[in-house]
Amino acid sequence: MSVRIGSFELKSRVYVPPMAGVTDIVFRNIVRQVDPNCLLSTEMVSSRGLMYRKECHIMDLAPDEHPIGIQIFGHEPDVMAQAAQMAEARGADFVDINMGCPVPKITKGKDGCALMREPELAREIISTIKSAINIPVTVKFRLGWDDSSRNAVEFGEMVEAAGASLVTVHGRTRAQLYSGKADWSFIAKVKKALSIPVFGNGDVFEAEDAARLLEVTGCDGVAVARGTLGNPWLIPRITRFLDDGIMTEAPDDIDRITVAFKHCLGLVQYKGLRIGTSESRRHMTHYTKGISGGAVFRNRLTQISSVEDAMNILADLAEHVQGPSGRQRFLLAVENAYLEYCKHPGKGAGDRKDSIKTPVDVHAVAPVAVP
Ligand SMILES: Cc1cc2nc3c(=O)[nH]c(=O)nc-3n(C[C@H](O)[C@H](O)[C@H](O)COP(=O)(O)O)c2cc1C
Repeated sequence: MSVRIGSFELKSRVYVPPMAGVTDIVFRNIVRQVDPNCLLSTEMVSSRGLMYRKECHIMDLAPDEHPIGIQIFGHEPDVMAQAAQMAEARGADFVDINMGCPVPKITKGKDGCALMREPELAREIISTIKSAINIPVTVKFRLGWDDSSRNAVEFGEMVEAAGASLVTVHGRTRAQLYSGKADWSFIAKVKKALSIPVFGNGDVFEAEDAARLLEVTGCDGVAVARGTLGNPWLIPRITRFLDDGIMTEAPDDIDRITVAFKHCLGLVQYKGLRIGTSESRRHMTHYTKGISGGAVFRNRLTQISSVEDAMNILADLAEHVQGPSGRQRFLLAVENAYLEYCKHPGKGAGDRKDSIKTPVDVHAVAPVAVP
């Protein structure tokens, strides 16, 4: 069964939802290379911040990444509507409103999940945005503020009535942050109550998890966030498993190491040396997790200060995994990566002074515990 957001039809039931500090143009390019159809989103963008810094690179989209949404957060209906217009002008296929972020820095200003306690204001935000743009509006929220106020069903009904075309529901409350388990049975209640498509979200780390989430919730699609860290291949594996029941092979260690390098190279080219190397340390740790005997190399990766550092450590790791032929295979892929990145149209901000920062303190948001 196909899923529609407004008038456009999705070719995939899998969504990589917004992750601050992760779903930037470089990460999305890597996901797109392995899965042409999944739904993508930018990191969240501050609507208020956009009023002062209109060029906002977080909203940069590459031509080959559609379908993609831009996620905005804030609580002032007019400001949110202006931000949504800017997102539309940047070429987004839809605007997603963040009503689920649990981080105190965001919620204390009535943004993110705080809006689940202000359904009237949330309704006004959605309908104001809806009448300001021509592309669909989607909303991402949680089960509620805390266990004593799980209002996701009523909230979802309000969101639908206000004009949203799709919702993504993370099966935790704000109070849980990322602890405990996502409650898929509660997501099922939201799905049952709504007519618009519902994407279920929370704790999908394997293709089988995605199938089970869809079975338990009856949702139209699945949003997979932390499971993609260092593992973009999870998305095509889920797609294939859902479509054909086939579990495709996981990439081998040298492929993982190669993509770790490409990610680092892309980040440094796009965000500049300081931010690029700093952000890529975390990503490379994820890519190389699970490689036998890899801990010592991962430790070295956390200290890199250049792309060359990353290349040398990853070459050592490739040799550790597969001997001299592993090193050679990796170094060949490095050469190709340089050629590829030099050509890519969405890249090339290089060492600019206004290096791109993610919208919030990534370490505050990042519950990056992947089992
Ligand atoms: C590092 C990180 C950053 C996140 N940033 C955002 C964000 O900007 N907007 C948002 O709606 N959700 C954000 N989330 C929440 C995820 O989109 C998702 O709802 C949550 O991680 C649960 O899904 P998962 O179990 O598949 O990871 C973030 C999650 C992580 C781990």
